[in-house]
Amino acid sequence: MKHLVAPSLLSADFSNLAKEIEMVNNSLADWFHLDIMDGVFVPNISFGFPVVKAIKKLAVKPLDVHLMIVEPDRYIQDFKEAGADILTVQYEACVHLHRTVHSIREAGMKAGIALNPHTPINLLENIVSDVDLLLVMSVNPGFGGQKFIRNTYEKIARLKDLLLRKNSQALIEVDGGVGLDNAQQLINNGVDVLVAGNAIFNTTDPAEIIRLLKKLE
Ligand code: DX5
Ligand code: ZN
Repeated sequence: MKHLVAPSLLSADFSNLAKEIEMVNNSLADWFHLDIMDGVFVPNISFGFPVVKAIKKLAVKPLDVHLMIVEPDRYIQDFKEAGADILTVQYEACVHLHRTVHSIREAGMKAGIALNPHTPINLLENIVSDVDLLLVMSVNPGFGGQKFIRNTYEKIARLKDLLLRKNSQALIEVDGGVGLDNAQQLINNGVDVLVAGNAIFNTTDPAEIIRLLKKLE
């Protein structure tokens, strides 16, 4: 399948959010990536339901919501009501992950699992068949604009092998420090969805960067 591009709004200009959403709507981007941080799971707080709802009103593309929060089970229904299409929880935040991903699906969303840089791929062995998306974090979650961790290339290749072995259709997403300098190799290793914040929004022509990321084969 042709890879997807999901701009992370964390790096957008929040004083001009409507304009930024419009840019993504009119670009070749496929999804909006929304980072929810609670100040407990990660050392940062981003935004919550009112902002997600406001984005949903203007967005004409799916909302890919990445929860970097503890106890995500408490908020599954709220994120559905706020407009999430894909809901991803952090592996490290879930004690009963199987229950969590099924609750997300039962609420009518696609379910994803995100792995921190130190979490090994083989821990997914018995859960990959239950999810729609696997997000490999290529920075420690919490902030935009961090440096890509190179060990991610190998993790993605290993995840791709696991999905093939399990006959899983789940998408592989990569998030953190992604840009034109590493996207090609990530696609070569099996990535289906590129998330990029800083590399898109902190440039003079974000739509052009999205086009260049989409154009890679
Ligand atoms: C990091 C977030 C990312 C972040 C990516 O914790 O999950 O989605 O916005 O930003 P860049 O592309 O700037 O690393
Ligand atoms: Zn993210």
